[in-house]
Amino acid sequence: MKTTAIAPANIAFLKYWGKRDAASRLPANSSFSMNLTNATTVTTVEFSDEYTKDLVSFDGESVSSHEAQRIVDHITVLRTLAGSKKSARIVTKNSFPKGTGVASSASGFAALTVAASGALGLTFRERELTILARRGSGSACRSIPDGFVVWEKGASDDTSYARSIAPSTFWNLRDVLCIVDTSMKKVSTSEGHQQVSSSPLWEKRQQGIDRTLSCMLDAFHARDFVRFGQLVEDECLSMHAVMQTQIPPLHYWNDVTIELMKSISKWREDGLPVYYTIDAGPNVHVLCEAKHEQQVVSLVGAIGGVSRVIVNAPAEGARTVTSHLF
Ligand code: PMV
Repeated sequence: MKTTAIAPANIAFLKYWGKRDAASRLPANSSFSMNLTNATTVTTVEFSDEYTKDLVSFDGESVSSHEAQRIVDHITVLRTLAGSKKSARIVTKNSFPKGTGVASSASGFAALTVAASGALGLTFRERELTILARRGSGSACRSIPDGFVVWEKGASDDTSYARSIAPSTFWNLRDVLCIVDTSMKKVSTSEGHQQVSSSPLWEKRQQGIDRTLSCMLDAFHARDFVRFGQLVEDECLSMHAVMQTQIPPLHYWNDVTIELMKSISKWREDGLPVYYTIDAGPNVHVLCEAKHEQQVVSLVGAIGGVSRVIVNAPAEGARTVTSHLF
C-alpha cells in the first residue's frame, strides 16, 4: 500500500544536546518544542516486489549516500517489525529547500516513520511512533504529536517518548525564522552530541535543566510571553556555551547571527516583546506573539544578510495525506 505522510520541523525551546545512549538516541535531558507550519517534509513510501532494491530520492534535490543509508536503515527497522522482505521506493520533498540551511532530519524522520509504517500495514499508537522516529533522529520524535511537545528523556528505549502538552491553538506564537546562511553544517549534530561532556560547562547545565524545564512550562501554561521568552533565550545561550566549549568547539553563529541577537535585545529595550533561539546552525528563530508578527518581519527584513524570512505558527504533528509524490 503506497502511503504518504507530512510532518513539521520543530523548534526546541528547551534543547536536546547530549545523549546518554548514542545507538538508540536516548537523550541526556528532556526537551520541549513547537511544531512549525511552514517548514515541512512530505514523504511517499511504497513497498513492492517490483523493486529489486530500496530506491531513495529527494524530489528535485540530490541525496548523499550517507543520507540514503540512514533512510534505508530506518525503514529496515520497520520492515523487520512487519516481517516483510520487500524493497521500497521512497520519495521525499521539503517545503524548505536544503539550501535554506534549515535542518530537515526532524521533519524527515517523522514523515518517514509515519509513511513507512502505513505502507507496511503496521498500526502504532502515537507514543510508539515517537519512539520509532526518535531512533531515526532524536528531535524527530517531537514532530509526531500535535502543537507543543515535550520529549520525556525516560530511562530506557520504551520510556523515552514525546507527547503533546498543548494543541497548536493553545498560544498564537510566531517563529519568524531568519535565514542568514544557506550552507550545510560542517559538523553533524550526531557528532556534536557525542562530545558534550568535554565541555566544562556541561555538568552545570545538566544540574539545572529539570528546574529550567519546569519554570519554562509554568510560564508557557500561564502564556506569560516575557517570562517564557527570557527563559527560552537564556536556555539557547546555555546550549551554545556548551557547544562553544566542547572539544572540538562548535561555533555555529556568523556575523549576521550576532547582529540579529544584539538587535533583538535592543528592540526589547525599546519595548517590543521579542526573543530569539538558535539551533545547531547560524539561522535565528525570532519568537513573538502573533500581534507583533508584522513589526518583527519588517525589522528583521531591514537587516542586511537576512536572505529569507519564513514565518511559522504552531502546527499539527505528523499525519498521513492522500496525495502521493509518485
Ligand atoms: O535530532 P538532532 O540529532 O538533529 O539534534 C537536535 C539538536 C538541536 O537542534 C540543537 C536541539 C533540539 O533539541 O532540537
